[in-house]
Amino acid sequence: MFKKVFLMLLAGIILTWQSFTGTANALSLNENIRTVPLNEDGAQITLSNQEAQIGSRLFIDNCAQCHLQGKTKTNPNVGLSKEALANAIPARDNLLGMVDYIKNPTSYDGEEDLSLFHLSTERPDLWPEIRNYTEEDIKAVAGYILIQTNADPRWGKRSLIEP
Ligand code: HEC
Repeated sequence: MFKKVFLMLLAGIILTWQSFTGTANALSLNENIRTVPLNEDGAQITLSNQEAQIGSRLFIDNCAQCHLQGKTKTNPNVGLSKEALANAIPARDNLLGMVDYIKNPTSYDGEEDLSLFHLSTERPDLWPEIRNYTEEDIKAVAGYILIQTNADPRWGKRSLIEP
């Protein structure tokens, strides 16, 4: 009995550790999960496992402190769920929309420039932590968020037991 509980705990710890460090060896996600909308016109793009892995590492390093599990700590109304991204103006539930946000973040209605308040690769003076992002890095982290919306139905959804 105790042995079983211990083994389950151990498995849980290993799985959690792997998902946090992103070191679940080489990532191997099926193609459906890696295929995400490219633009608002319905074109799609399939990211490689390597891009997903790079995106996951960048997300953990630079985004997860505010966006753990796709939620937004300081503004729960603007999370990273598929629905939240789809309803933003312009829509952010596609790779180009997401890349645009990482470069030039704007308010949910698209009216205000948020680059003073949110990480932006176009303002390396304000956001040195992502100053060295290449175009490939931006694509990878943007793609990773969209892959998560495919992979995890709870990604970005508010939990009932949270305040
Ligand atoms: C210091 C906290 C913080 C960090 C770090 C952060 N964000 Fe955000 N993010 C926010 C907040 C707050 C909002 C909501 C802004 C608003 O009021 O519209 C947001 C909004 C977003 C949105 C828009 C979501 C939607 O539904 O329209 C995207 C996309 C996003 N962040 C991506 C990222 C990415 C990618 C990173 C890492 C490179 C990142 N964020 C790092 C706090 C953060």
